[in-house]
Amino acid sequence: MPDTNFAKGLAGVIATESKICTIDGDEGLLSYRGYSIQDLAANSNFAESAYLLLFGNLPSESELADFSAKLEARREIRPEIIDGLRLLPADTHPMVALQQAVAAHGSFDAAPGGEIGPAIERSIDLIARFPTMVAARARLAAGQEPIAPRQDLGHGQNFLYMLSGEVPDTERGDIFDDCLILHMEHSLNASTFTARVVSATLAPVDASVSAAVGALYGRLHGGANERVLHMLTEIESAATAEAWLDDQLAVKRKIMGMGHRVYRAKDPRAHVLEAYLKHLADKAGGSEDYDKLKVIERKMSAIMEAKGKQIYPNVDYFSGSLYRVLDIDVSLFTPIFAIARVVGWCAHILEQWEDNRIYRPRAAYTGEHNRTWAPVSERG
Ligand SMILES: CC(C)(COP(=O)(O)OP(=O)(O)OC[C@H]1O[C@@H](n2cnc3c(N)ncnc32)[C@H](O)[C@@H]1OP(=O)(O)O)[C@@H](O)C(=O)NCCC(=O)NCCS
Repeated sequence: MPDTNFAKGLAGVIATESKICTIDGDEGLLSYRGYSIQDLAANSNFAESAYLLLFGNLPSESELADFSAKLEARREIRPEIIDGLRLLPADTHPMVALQQAVAAHGSFDAAPGGEIGPAIERSIDLIARFPTMVAARARLAAGQEPIAPRQDLGHGQNFLYMLSGEVPDTERGDIFDDCLILHMEHSLNASTFTARVVSATLAPVDASVSAAVGALYGRLHGGANERVLHMLTEIESAATAEAWLDDQLAVKRKIMGMGHRVYRAKDPRAHVLEAYLKHLADKAGGSEDYDKLKVIERKMSAIMEAKGKQIYPNVDYFSGSLYRVLDIDVSLFTPIFAIARVVGWCAHILEQWEDNRIYRPRAAYTGEHNRTWAPVSERG
């Protein structure tokens, strides 16, 4: 008898209650703790939005000053972590490097799992240090020495500085911070669910977060923005983009950065990212990427609408081109996602421990029954 409770991939199953984030897929709305993502991207900054996600409310002036000071002061990573990153083979994927750095981070001063006070401090440590881990590994992989973080720069600005050694102007730093805000949280996606499942065993924060990094590494989760860039290299120019799209749809190829499991409207994050891409592209005298993306978006939406399907740009559609304008190498796109999403993971771990219960779904057994063991010489 098939089990009627079975939902492949847990689709549609409500696995927990949460006060952190809400998504309205039909209207294309995303909010953190009740504040719309557009409102936060327009008015907030990295530290304030991270505080909001972790603690549930916007901080007062003194709370924000205290929280920002902690994030700035804790950016440095221990030499042992840098040594660990240095020892990895040159072609190690940056997400593998990040996962091992986070796991190794758990061997220094970590608190046991399940204790909310120490977990808050540990979350701040990780949020502060993720950019340093990613930038250090990126430089080591390129045969360069890591650059120590600076406390006098914004979160995103400091990350970009640690990559290149050059301080970006504040506008680019602020735009990058907004990209991080937009990626901080998205309800029970695979990596966040992983963080909750692991933390529900009362494993420490570092172990739960490193597991989440592993989940984000998978190409069904992170990385679609990278594939959008590959797609753009196939399109010669905006003038040939429509013909290219017709060819792809004729062979039923998926258009990267389009469509979403939850959204039936344009992803609210795509609106913000598009505006930044356009702004920086205009300043630089135009962008081929932007022109191609707009042709594809218009034509694809029209074709799909005519078929009664709602396929619009998702968060990955414009982000890769925006990162390219910010001079970020494509290999860092998924690690950057992690630098942002670690905030959501930590918020969910803290929420999990407020009312913890270990996750233990069942499997519908479809294997054989009542078999009898036979010696290897008698097996057919
Ligand atoms: C995200 C994604 C997996 C969602 O898939 P889904 O839940 O099956 O999407 P829908 O149910 O809305 O699909 C409806 C129809 O539109 C088609 N469709 C969806 N996204 C499409 C895309 N990007 N390109 C072409 N066709 C697409 C589906 O194949 C389906 O066609 P069918 O009715 O003939 O079977 C899918 O849109 C996709 O692969 N997008 C490209 C990859 C990407 O950008 N991923 C990042 C997501 S944040």
